[in-house]
Amino acid sequence: MALDGGILAIVIVATITTGIVSVVIVVGMYKCAKFGVETYLQQRGGGDRDRDRDREAEASITRAGGERGSTDDDDDVEMGSMSYFFEDIQNERPVRFSSRQLRAFTRNYAHKVGSGGFGVVYKGRFPNGAAVAVKVLNSTLGKRAEEQFMAEVGTIGRTYHINLVRLYGFCFDATVKALVYEHMENGSLDGYLFDPTPERTVGFGKLCEIAVGTAKALRYLHEECAQRIIHYDIKPENVLLGAGLAPKVSDFGLARLCDREDTHLTITGARGTPGYAAPELWMPLPVTHKCDVYSYGMLLFETLGRRRNLELGPHARESQEWYPRWVWHQSEAGDTDAVVARAAATGGKRDREMAERVCKVALWCVQYRPEDRPSMGSVVRMLEGEEQIAAPRNPFAHLAPYTSSAIQSSGDTTVGPVVSAR
Ligand SMILES: Nc1ncnc2c1ncn2[C@@H]1O[C@H](COP(=O)(O)OP(=O)(O)OP(=O)(O)O)[C@@H](O)[C@H]1O
Ligand SMILES: [Mg+2]
Repeated sequence: MALDGGILAIVIVATITTGIVSVVIVVGMYKCAKFGVETYLQQRGGGDRDRDRDREAEASITRAGGERGSTDDDDDVEMGSMSYFFEDIQNERPVRFSSRQLRAFTRNYAHKVGSGGFGVVYKGRFPNGAAVAVKVLNSTLGKRAEEQFMAEVGTIGRTYHINLVRLYGFCFDATVKALVYEHMENGSLDGYLFDPTPERTVGFGKLCEIAVGTAKALRYLHEECAQRIIHYDIKPENVLLGAGLAPKVSDFGLARLCDREDTHLTITGARGTPGYAAPELWMPLPVTHKCDVYSYGMLLFETLGRRRNLELGPHARESQEWYPRWVWHQSEAGDTDAVVARAAATGGKRDREMAERVCKVALWCVQYRPEDRPSMGSVVRMLEGEEQIAAPRNPFAHLAPYTSSAIQSSGDTTVGPVVSAR
């Protein structure tokens, strides 16, 4: 019996011990499993951050309204209304895109629209079909710190005006630095001014509307923005045209964002584009927002003449005087008829009056001394007939006397004629 009792006790102790050990093992296994699952989920969450960003960006774009395009990616995305899109985008910062998304938007950069001093522009589409222009910035930007880039893109992206091209977003990663803009269906003003195709030939009245819209954009950048923005590169290529040829200025804020040293410029250290850049941009003189007024004046001359002021290369017109100075000579002689006749050839009295006005305003805008140039606010008022326009002074008094051979032989790529010492 005593043996039976001993065996029973041993069995009971063994059973209890086994039970305890089993419970400990089960609890241990549960804790290990829990820890494993948590770790997995955390890792998965981190790895998905990029995809989450992609999804966030896509959600933003999804609301971008517009007509559904031919893209077949994301066909099931819900479309918001146009008004919802604009409300939404206006309250947002520019969206950050991944380089993978840009490749998808542009179908692997298949459609090149053009290129300039900052990089190459491609046409693309958001998944909802809205057309975009993707400007892939050139490599000098690689040196720029991400925070600085984002801060400046933030400023550009929150600068809204009916006559400014909208920046929807950007990409900043190790290999791609790019800006994503609204796409302007009618290209840029140069296509309408210089040897236009028949379908791009427009009346002088329309060109003046475009010029006034451009002036309003500059007035906004100079006088109405919280932080003044100097454009530095006003020229017809940077006046883009949307539906009904509504003008929108592009590339504002880019001069600060990008380093243009390796661009098409030939003048070391200068900014802007030859033919449009104010003298102070290529001389050791202080630069103010009035450099944009000068470039705008050059654009007005080109609107009047429907030709480039400065023609370089094999197409340069050897016998022709630099157009702005020819206009000044006509004006000085009190005979702007030839200028007006060329500008408003097919127009009526209204066009001719407008051409007179444009001619005077252009001459004021390109005054040599920045302080003699009007503000853009004043330019708008003068063009709209709300401000009297005084007789302009000679803007070219600082230039050497004109000879056509001087222009040809100098190879000067600044403003045309040779500049005399002053
Ligand atoms: N948002 C846009 N929508 C439609 N076309 C565009 C857009 N942005 C640029 N383009 C076209 O692409 C061309 C190249 O633009 P880009 O800004 O790179 O060069 P640019 O304007 O000629 O010179 P710069 O670099 O001095 O501005 C422009 O002339 C214009 O016709
Ligand atoms: Mg441009």
